[in-house]
Amino acid sequence: MTCLQDITTSKSASAPLRSRDFLTLNEVDCAGKQVLVRMDLNAPVENGRVTSDARLRAALPTLRHLLATKARITILSHLGRPQEGRVEIRYSLRPVADTLSGLLGIPVPLISDWPGSGATANPGVTLAENVRFLEGETANDPELGRCMARKCDVFVMDAFGTAHRAHASTHAVAEYAPVACAGPLLTRELDVISSALAAPKCPVAAIVGGSKVSTKLNVLHSLIDRVNVLILGGGIANTFLAAFGHGVGSSLHEPDLLGEARTIMSKAMAKNVHIPLPIDLVCADAFSPSAHGRTRRARDIQPNEMILDIGLRTAWNYAELLSEASTIFWNGPVGVFEFDHFGA
Ligand code: 3PG
Repeated sequence: MTCLQDITTSKSASAPLRSRDFLTLNEVDCAGKQVLVRMDLNAPVENGRVTSDARLRAALPTLRHLLATKARITILSHLGRPQEGRVEIRYSLRPVADTLSGLLGIPVPLISDWPGSGATANPGVTLAENVRFLEGETANDPELGRCMARKCDVFVMDAFGTAHRAHASTHAVAEYAPVACAGPLLTRELDVISSALAAPKCPVAAIVGGSKVSTKLNVLHSLIDRVNVLILGGGIANTFLAAFGHGVGSSLHEPDLLGEARTIMSKAMAKNVHIPLPIDLVCADAFSPSAHGRTRRARDIQPNEMILDIGLRTAWNYAELLSEASTIFWNGPVGVFEFDHFGA
């Protein structure tokens, strides 16, 4: 199966990109079958409630399509990054099951002992408990993948946001399932990305946010061959700020990767790719929804402060750069959007 990483790291920037060298859900008969769907329902949860149902809403068309075929559907998803092999209630998918049930208008039972439990008996939707509670999930354990695959007639991979991870529920299961196909959400993303990468309208800008440079190194290197402007956000931007001598206080960043950040910046400069760094930032003393943000110049971040968003001047700079772009790729959040004070 192709994933964003495969596409963005394909050898030649100009090589033709085939978006449909995989089976899609539309080509598979799911009528009455046991269908296992890997979704990305990794929604923010606070005090046992889902605080943004965007990912759940995005999953609805796939689920409605399957429900119309009278398939017996089991959804797999992760939530957060729990310690594998342990059930931690704060990472339970219970709030997701409840919210999904409300959105679909049907019960969505949460199965806590999947894949140990039996197959789904009737047409409808069940949600398996957080796959990251299972030993072997993140190691892509083939045995776990086989065990998951035995539970289905059809495996549907529709978790675009997790497609870059080779885990048992995204990768090994697809190796062993009788039929494995891409769901509509994944297919649409791949179609759009493939055509945008194959023949982008220039100038091209990319925004890469999220927490870690380490998980996006290949993507960053590959994007430099393809874009005119590369805007970094989140923990990635903090690592770059630190690499160029700014204090980042207690912000999320990766001290081990300062050298890598400088290499990426040098490569970008050699290729005439602009990587703007934030000039002002919104900081707080704590990572909390009730923390109050204060704007600081990048060079004035205090040791006790953490960067949780970009400031207005930076936002205006980025807006101007983006308004000049004809194609924009965007991956990952640029700031702690879940907290109102840092959501701008
Ligand atoms: C995300 O929220 O970025 C995806 O669900 C992937 O989560 P992960 O980085 O914990 O694998």
